[in-house]
Amino acid sequence: MPRGDSLPTVWERPPHTKAKHDILTRYLGAWFGIFGRSRYHRAVNVLDGFAGPGRYDEDEPGSPVLTLSTLLDHRSFPDFGDTNFTFVFNEWDDARYASLKVVLADVQASRAPWPKTVRVLDRNQNFQDLARELLGSIPAGKQLAPTFAFIDPFGYKDVPMALIRDLVSHPSCELFIYFDFNSVNRFANAGNVDPHFTALFGCDDYKNAPAADDGRGQYIHDLYERQLRQECNFAHICSFEMVNMSGHTGSYLFFCTRDDQAYDKMKEAMWKLAPGGGYRFDDRLANQDVLFGDEANTGPLQDELAHHFAGQRVTFEEVCQYVVTKTPFHSGQVKTKTLKPMQAAGRISAPNQKKKGTFPDGTLIEFPALTS
Ligand SMILES: C[S@@+](CC[C@H](N)C(=O)[O-])C[C@H]1O[C@@H](n2cnc3c(N)ncnc32)[C@H](O)[C@@H]1O
Repeated sequence: MPRGDSLPTVWERPPHTKAKHDILTRYLGAWFGIFGRSRYHRAVNVLDGFAGPGRYDEDEPGSPVLTLSTLLDHRSFPDFGDTNFTFVFNEWDDARYASLKVVLADVQASRAPWPKTVRVLDRNQNFQDLARELLGSIPAGKQLAPTFAFIDPFGYKDVPMALIRDLVSHPSCELFIYFDFNSVNRFANAGNVDPHFTALFGCDDYKNAPAADDGRGQYIHDLYERQLRQECNFAHICSFEMVNMSGHTGSYLFFCTRDDQAYDKMKEAMWKLAPGGGYRFDDRLANQDVLFGDEANTGPLQDELAHHFAGQRVTFEEVCQYVVTKTPFHSGQVKTKTLKPMQAAGRISAPNQKKKGTFPDGTLIEFPALTS
């Protein structure tokens, strides 16, 4: 099938692609660690629906190589026992698919003997056909094994909300999906690609996007998030903004899950890339780490906790659960970065604490009532 973009078979890797890969591999490292050792799941799937040619023009690895390496190089891989991992890599363009096959063969040859528990399937289909085929292959009444679906198209075509909804309808399915903000921002009210946008969103509310100075960007972002939440029934969604060389938002990556721990791990992966907590990567600032502070500012979280738990005595676990499920922060930021300075500032007390500034499980935390 001819490609619908203007790029060569193998193209240059822009900085935001490296950022996307860093989030992907950080998260999958945690995800493999959880499911590899799970007593409840014997099989796990990774679906890379828009896999690309497997490499970039200076031989940087593409997502298929990265996801496989994240598993095979995982320090706990020897402990994953007989958990079966199936990777499906799909690429529609023939020349890119041919490249992908070569890359995958090289990976497998370089890691002989290939582990029996790791199955690699390559496909050369339109994603929509593949998704329908996968759905059709699940026997009635059976649940799909935990599946991480990475949906990474170039644009807005071939990722209709209704199909995504069906694909990730099983409880342990997660979605990491590219959202072509730039195109929607440009053409939402133009009327020239409405059938594609209506399929993308699963509704036509995008036509009501306000003007740029009236919150257009936020409206479009929030509409896609709302549709993912409502249509696909996800409990947690976080997004990461990619800013292009011209300083405009090019795209977002949306991560969607029904699992608290998974949500926590993905937020942690995203914070690592944007330590200031902005959930955003700017191509213009790539390689200029010096511009970023590497400390999260937990001031807003401290205020939020003081407000939310005012006048209550709760356990550390309750505080942590709140942070993970209701705020943009993650569990690794609760103890030393948030509760410790709150205690030092006299904003909380911990009656059963053994050592000041430490908060092991079971620690009780008292938040004083707020005086108005
Ligand atoms: C953004 S690139 C993928 C990059 C890759 N995921 C990575 O991170 O290295 C999108 C790929 O999807 C392919 N593609 C375009 N339309 C497709 C479709 N309908 N189904 C499957 N693949 C498609 C393109 O040829 C391109 O290689």
